[in-house]
Amino acid sequence: MTMLRRRCLGIKIVVLSVITFTMLLFSYPFPDPKPLFKQASHLLDEPLPPDLCACPGHCVAELQGHPWFSERFNGSFFPLLTKENYKLSNDTFNWWQRLQTSHEANKFNQVMEELFTLFPGESLFQDEGPDRCRSCAVVGNSGNLKGSFYGRIIDSNDLVIRMNQAPTQGFEDDVGARTTHHLMYPESAINLGPNTSLVLIPYKTLDLQWLISAFTTGTVQQTYRRVMARIQANREKVLIYSPEFMKYAHDNWLDKHGRYPSTGFFSLMFALHICDEVSVFGYGADEQGNWHHYWENNHGGGLFRQTGVHGGDYEYNITVHLATINKIKMFSGS
Ligand SMILES: *[C@@H]1O[C@H](CO)[C@@H](O)[C@H](O)[C@H]1NC(C)=O
Ligand SMILES: *[C@@H]1O[C@H](CO)[C@@H](O)[C@H](O)[C@H]1NC(C)=O
Ligand SMILES: *[C@@H]1O[C@H](CO)[C@@H](O)[C@H](O)[C@H]1NC(C)=O
Ligand SMILES: *[C@@H]1O[C@H](CO)[C@@H](O)[C@H](O)[C@H]1NC(C)=O
Repeated sequence: MTMLRRRCLGIKIVVLSVITFTMLLFSYPFPDPKPLFKQASHLLDEPLPPDLCACPGHCVAELQGHPWFSERFNGSFFPLLTKENYKLSNDTFNWWQRLQTSHEANKFNQVMEELFTLFPGESLFQDEGPDRCRSCAVVGNSGNLKGSFYGRIIDSNDLVIRMNQAPTQGFEDDVGARTTHHLMYPESAINLGPNTSLVLIPYKTLDLQWLISAFTTGTVQQTYRRVMARIQANREKVLIYSPEFMKYAHDNWLDKHGRYPSTGFFSLMFALHICDEVSVFGYGADEQGNWHHYWENNHGGGLFRQTGVHGGDYEYNITVHLATINKIKMFSGS
């Protein structure tokens, strides 16, 4: 009897110890796999990639393991001019002055100073880090958006970037309704809602003078063609694309193909340098191979692709390649 009791007690103790041990084991805080990995990679002398953003999957700015991308992407270039930083290098200024015939050389600095008495010129977007996951939709103007029903996906992004004459009214199902940023130049300008940032792409000093005029006196009404004298847009939200960045896009990304990049390519580059996740809509031809705008019924083709000054095919190739290496997500439409 006592033997049996003792054995029972023994078994109880064993069972209890096993339970306690198991509980201890599972309640013990598991080491974060990262420090372990860090240790291991330290042993291999490979630095651990920093947490560039909070997006699941990966971050646009991640360079490690992306040699083609690393050769082109340079995070030290910023797409916008700011009050503190609008001086151009001589190289850039000379390149920029040659883009479009311009008769007001060297007024640039004077115009810039006036510009930033009117518009904020703040440093925006430079808050990248492990807590940020900024998703962006870049919406091109291709007819392949027609019948795509992308509207809801597009609107679900933090930023929605559109360009030139793009309307949303009447096309919401396919292109969405929100616009946070609208890239344009004087000859492609349209009025904008109060929540949208006008992002001016300046090709000449006169474009900057037009911007000032369009919000004040309305005196600049002609560039190489007639332009809007006044524009409806939120002055507090106006942004100006940087010529330094324009040259970087042309040199680093297009290998100087075409005279200068198209608005579509500038929009993509804008997103690539301020967002952590980029989705691209409305680029390329429709399923019949036509290049037309989604708001036009003209299926004649060749409408906005062969504009002469842009390396359209090369731009498209770069865009497709960015999608191939998962740096952007491309929605090819219908
Ligand atoms: C990025 O651009 C800056 C400014 O032009 C330059 O100094 C730097 O060397 C570039 N970095 C790379 C990796 O090319
Ligand atoms: C800047 O460019 C101008 C015009 O091409 C040239 O005359 C001048 O020597 C350049 N200055 C410097 C410092 O390179
Ligand atoms: C602008 O944003 C405000 C605040 O989010 C919103 O209430 C308003 O409807 C928006 N206006 C337009 C025209 O989208
Ligand atoms: C685009 O890429 C394809 C395949 O990678 C290549 O055959 C073609 O020559 C490229 N076109 C341009 C304009 O670079």
